[in-house]
Formats: sequence, structure tokens, C-alpha cells
Amino acid sequence: MIKVAFYDAKPYDRSSFEHYGKLHDVQFRFLEIKLSEDTVELARDCDAVCVFVNDNVNAKVIDRLYEMGIKLIALRSAGYNNVDVRAAFGKIHVVHVPAYSPYAVAEHAMALLLTSVRRIHKAYNRTREFNFSLSGLTGFDLHGKTVGVIGTGRIGRIFIDICRGFGMNVIAYDAYPAPDSGIEYVTLEELFHRSDIISLHCPLNDSTRHMIDRKAIDSMKKGVIIVNTSRGALINAEALLDGIRARKVGAACLDVYEEEADIFFEDRSGHILNDELLSRLISMPNVIVTSHQAFLTEEALNNIAETTVNNILSCFEKDGLCDNELCYRCGNIERCRKERKERCF
Ligand code: NAI
Repeated sequence: MIKVAFYDAKPYDRSSFEHYGKLHDVQFRFLEIKLSEDTVELARDCDAVCVFVNDNVNAKVIDRLYEMGIKLIALRSAGYNNVDVRAAFGKIHVVHVPAYSPYAVAEHAMALLLTSVRRIHKAYNRTREFNFSLSGLTGFDLHGKTVGVIGTGRIGRIFIDICRGFGMNVIAYDAYPAPDSGIEYVTLEELFHRSDIISLHCPLNDSTRHMIDRKAIDSMKKGVIIVNTSRGALINAEALLDGIRARKVGAACLDVYEEEADIFFEDRSGHILNDELLSRLISMPNVIVTSHQAFLTEEALNNIAETTVNNILSCFEKDGLCDNELCYRCGNIERCRKERKERCF
């Protein structure tokens, strides 16, 4: 029996992890608290910890986990910026879930877009109060509109297919365009200039941080709709708010927000929100915010749980080699995976 302390557990995590855990003799200790220096002791007697995006796995936490005999940090997310992978090297193995359901995220992006364009959020509230007026609910056809997709990886490609199904014209920008994909690639400037709708599907890194800033918004079409299901910091939120107030941006659909870490995933109703910018964005009639839920489908949760349990088994059983291991040493995880014939350490 492999024992795993499961930090930041949410009700929707449990059934899939319990299911795959039971199948493979992996026992999860579900803890609602996040992993930090103050809560690390709760992993006592366990073989591994399972963590999510807001658990703070810094060098001190890693050292304490190591002293306690923990051998594995299993991220149940793709991103791993919250884990000091360098500090873990030579002490504790780190694994993640690189992909779980690109359909979940692409479909959520389209759900947000349709909600915004057809004013579904307003209609829903109205009819619940028996207000059947149509005033102010006029939308527009997606058919024939130009959508600019930034990032044509797993999620971006599926979003493109969905848009094509709606009869939209698709243009795209990617730092590494996919050859022979049949996608019409343009420069970022041209994409900003031509798109009626812009949807972000690229990772957050130094070159993409605030790629949607004042200058970018100035160069967009009046009334452009911006959809972000990737990472909040791709957009300068203040510039976005100003663009909305100036009527330059027609609508924004946001599943992510730069300062979401201490806000999203929790019930904050009944509390005063200490984020003026987010409050102002949410108060705009043409802004829709969901709290980083694009991944949240049964299929994705099942894939996350199955992959995480397989990652754990690979590390403790079999040959100890896990395809989803993260190690800073070679600096090129993709190449390392192909060449690696044994454990990282
Ligand atoms: P992917 O790695 O398959 O595709 C990313 C694409 O972005 C690649 O084609 C890459 O060449 C491109 N790219 C890299 N740098 C770029 C740049 N500077 N400019 C333009 N394009 C660039 O990733 P995938 O699976 O499609 O995920 C995309 C993003 O979706 C992730 O980075 C993540 O931030 C976000 N995501 C959001 C979730 C949510 O629940 N809201 C869940 C999962 C992912």
C-alpha cells in the first residue's frame, strides 16, 4: 500500500482519486489545507504528497518532506511553477500531468464566447425573475466572423476546429507554427488588426507576459472580443479594463486572472473582495469571469486521477522510471524524456 498525503483536496477531486487509488492499492489522505511550511507535518507516515497549483512547495518544504522520508511530489496539474524543482533534485522525485483534456478547455472557451455573444448570462437571470423582455439582448452571428487564435498547440487546435464548425474564418499566431496544418498563420500585429474575436491558447512565459497590453488593444478592431482560458498574466488587466471603458473592447471572457492565486477556487461570497481591479472587471456588463474552471470536466478529472496514480506507481514500482518526471538538470524536459534510460537520480 502506497500512502499519499493529498493537499488542497476539493470535493470534486475525491471520487476519481479514490476510484483509481483503490484499483492500485494507493491510499490517499485527503487534506483540505494547502501544503506549506506550516502544514508539511500532516504528511507524516506517507510515501508521497499530491499537490495542486496553489500548494507552496518551496525549498524549506522540500527539505522537511525529505527528512520525513517522502519520496515523491505528484503534481495533479500540468504547470509546476509552485514547486522548486531545483531544490528537489537528488532528494525527491517530482511528477506532473502534462495533458488531461484539451477538449475541456477549448469547449469552455467556446462556451464563454457564446454566452457573451448571445447574452445568455443576462437572459438566464431575466427569465428566473419572469422578465421575458428581449431588450438589450441582441447578439451577432459567429458565422463569417474572423477569430484570431494565439497558440496552436493541443487546446488551440481543438478550438480552431470548433470555430470552423461555426463557419468562422480562422487566423492564428504561434511562435512555432505547425507546418502542413492548414492553418493560416499571420503575424501578431496582423492578428490584432484583423480579428473580431481573439482567443489565447499559449503558455505564460517571459515573452508572452502581458502580450495583450495597451498597445496591442489600441491596434485591435473596435468591439473586439477577447477570450482568455490560458493564464491571467497574458493580459495586462488594467489595460483591458481601460479598453472596455473606452468601448474599444466589446467584451472579455476570462477564465483566468493575473492575481487569481489567493482568490479563485474558494468561496469568497460574504467577504469583501480586496481586489479593486477584479471587482471592477466583474461589474462590467460585457465581462464574464469564471474561476479557472475550464479544465473541470469529468473526463479531465478522470484523466488527471488516472495519470497521477500511474505516475505514482511508475515511481514506486516497475523500474522507477516515469515519463512525466520533472527534473531541472538537463533544462530540456522533452529531449530528456526521449534520451533518458534511467531515473534522473
Ligand atoms: P501546448 O503546449 O500544446 O500549446 C501551446 C502552444 O503555444 C504551442 O503551439 C506553442 O508553440 C505556442 N507558443 C509558445 N510560445 C508562444 C508565444 N510566445 N507566442 C505564441 N504562441 C506560443 O499547450 P496546451 O495544452 O494547448 O495549453 C495551452 C495553455 O492552456 C497552457 O499553457 C495553459 O496555460 C492553459 N491551460 C488552462 C487551463 C484552464 O483550466 N484554464 C487548463 C489547461 C491548460
